[in-house]
Amino acid sequence: MTPRRHDTPARTGTANPLRRLALGDLRRRTSMKWRAHPEDVLPLWVAEMDVPLADPVARALTEAVRLGDTGYPAGTEYADALAAFAERRWNWRPGAEHTALVPDVMLGIVEVLRLVTGPGDAVVVNPPVYPPFYAFVGHADRRIVEAPLGADLRLDFPALEAAFVRARAEGRPAAYLLCNPHNPTGTVHTRAELERVASLAREHGVRVVSDEIHAPLVLPGARHVPYPSVRGGESAFALLSASKAWNLAGLKAALAVAGPEAAEDLARVPEEVGHGASHLGVVAHSAALRDGGDWLDALLAGVDENRRLLAELLARHLPEVRHRAPQGTYLAWLDCRALGLGDDPAAVFLERGRVALNSGPGFGTGGAGHVRLNLATSPEILTEAVRRMAAAL
Ligand SMILES: Cc1ncc(COP(=O)(O)O)c(C=O)c1O
Repeated sequence: MTPRRHDTPARTGTANPLRRLALGDLRRRTSMKWRAHPEDVLPLWVAEMDVPLADPVARALTEAVRLGDTGYPAGTEYADALAAFAERRWNWRPGAEHTALVPDVMLGIVEVLRLVTGPGDAVVVNPPVYPPFYAFVGHADRRIVEAPLGADLRLDFPALEAAFVRARAEGRPAAYLLCNPHNPTGTVHTRAELERVASLAREHGVRVVSDEIHAPLVLPGARHVPYPSVRGGESAFALLSASKAWNLAGLKAALAVAGPEAAEDLARVPEEVGHGASHLGVVAHSAALRDGGDWLDALLAGVDENRRLLAELLARHLPEVRHRAPQGTYLAWLDCRALGLGDDPAAVFLERGRVALNSGPGFGTGGAGHVRLNLATSPEILTEAVRRMAAAL
């Protein structure tokens, strides 16, 4: 993505948000990242960022609080803000009439899976993948079918086709839950790859649900392609939200977008589902998408810097760890198998190094011996975390 010239951090002077907060301030936070472990642990696990709120978001929330504007959400403000953002950044304009407000991305995924599959039907996923995909699909009484990523951490088309065949073996409906961009590897799928997905999905009668929560977080060198915008993707659904890119997970709101051929299906989502989104969430997410472009560009520059720093730190302190720099997301997927720490190196790094990472095995097949590290922190904290990991060996 090339930022518009007047959006660039250099012109506006927007500071890197990852360098703004001291560890002492972060430790005063009460969210999961900072409260799940004792004070001596450096947390680089759950996908929360060590950033202050973007100014436009803080202003919108402050104004809503000042007005006591804390009721139920109404209207299409969020969908309109997403449409304008998606057009600016990805040359794709999802119509508000093809968009439904949902409480968050995971609950939106469950609602969409309910539209196109029934209890016991298969949902194909690409492990290693975001662990709640397993939990939510199981909780919705659907069955996981795995199509692991290839050794290059990209989609493996023979594996995907075999999984589609297995998913449809009894002639029942099936869905494919695509992670675009992919968590935990940071793989950004290309248009050519997504068109190949679309052609396979059509051939096998599988409906595609694309989780695009990390879409605004694609880093220099790669480009996000919205799945419903690709040739053959017209019958798909995409789930989008400002929550990852602007750190708004505590302000619940997300959007389900239907491709043109899926609009009638999406219209079957009961209106009440949208009541699960918080009005303050809608206010915050809309402000982020509408006015948070400069802040996002400054963040992306900071994450880009951190992904380079991580590569240097690993080369210096943990040369046996294998890793491909993420193309998107602020997550790094580290292959620690050569360290001989067993299936769950994160347990060792936590116990001996006092640094919290995500355990690989929860990400499904291919997760053993790996950890996921959250890069959305200051270079100082990142440096100290890798030093601690090395000292744990
Ligand atoms: C791929 C992916 N989907 C969904 C979520 C969660 O989104 P939400 O909190 O909106 O359910 C995350 C959070 O990190 C994620 O990485």
